[in-house]
Amino acid sequence: MVQSVTLRRPDDMHLHLRDGNTLRAVLPYSARQFGRAIVMPNLKPPVTTVGAARAYRARILAALPASLTFEPLMTAYLCDNTDPEEIRKGFNERVLTAVKLYPAGATTHAEYGVTGTDKVAKVLDVMQELGMPLLIHGESTDPGVDVFDREALFLDSTLKPLLDTFPALKIVLEHITTEQAAEFVDADSSGRLAATITPQHLLFNRNAMFTGGLRPHYYCLPVLKREQHRLALRRVATSGSPSFFLGTDSAPHERAAKEAACGCAGIFSAPTALEAYLTVFEQENAIDRFEAFASENGRRFYGLPPNEGTVTLTHEPNDAPRSVPLGEGKSIETFIADGELSWQLSAQSSR
Ligand code: DOR
Ligand code: ZN
Repeated sequence: MVQSVTLRRPDDMHLHLRDGNTLRAVLPYSARQFGRAIVMPNLKPPVTTVGAARAYRARILAALPASLTFEPLMTAYLCDNTDPEEIRKGFNERVLTAVKLYPAGATTHAEYGVTGTDKVAKVLDVMQELGMPLLIHGESTDPGVDVFDREALFLDSTLKPLLDTFPALKIVLEHITTEQAAEFVDADSSGRLAATITPQHLLFNRNAMFTGGLRPHYYCLPVLKREQHRLALRRVATSGSPSFFLGTDSAPHERAAKEAACGCAGIFSAPTALEAYLTVFEQENAIDRFEAFASENGRRFYGLPPNEGTVTLTHEPNDAPRSVPLGEGKSIETFIADGELSWQLSAQSSR
């Protein structure tokens, strides 16, 4: 059995860091593993301008412990009225790496999202010209569509027409959860369509939300799906295809906001992210493909240089905290903590 795995320092290509107290509490968990992260813009209010992205980046860097190196890669939250020239400016000034498209109302803080892709055609024209990636939360928002079918439906209703209308636009279909999405991305040979996959969608199916009662800490969007979908995601993630890469979608919410009559969607996986992914690759006999998924495929898609330095994981009980304190009795529950994982990040160097 492999006892230790060393790989080039990886990147998290989909991360929610929040702001203020929560930012300070969660950031070190990502920064000790990942060299860079694509930072989601769904703050309240959302990050829609170059100035807001620059200021948010400065707050993230100010919250970073001096012992860690980490580069936040900023995104803008796409709205129906986003000015294409603002996006061009953000990209040219190296503030914005990508733009995030939330269909209006699809998920947490998505109320300012896009009501139709025709509304943002001019922005997409500019992004296509710049080679700037569009990151998509790929779910239909039609309330008549079953929550478990929303991603599969989005592929035909929205993604396919978008790919046809903007033939050079680079697109990341974020946090894919279904066999249909895995196959859709795998079938594209253009190299301009890719997908991120979360640890929870590789490790659990939808039963996890209902085992012995309602388990809000397994609730995220897109929601966990049937076993057949989990298996399809494991196949593509571990296949060695460059179109699939690591994006945790670590999305911290205070415990009380999740354990509520109407609990928030989001799983806080940052403290155990790499260990959780490596568990999957070990189970699939694909440890030799882990570095491509974690450290190479994403940064290549984004046109970024490789990170300096390495991380090492060893086979031993994981010591991540079950919950992360926020002060005033508040806390955030951690995804699979307390000895449930048998890998542990044991060393990290940033050069
Ligand atoms: O589960 C989720 N949580 N899905 C999202 O798309 C947003 C995220 C959040 O920001 O909490
Ligand atoms: Zn997300």
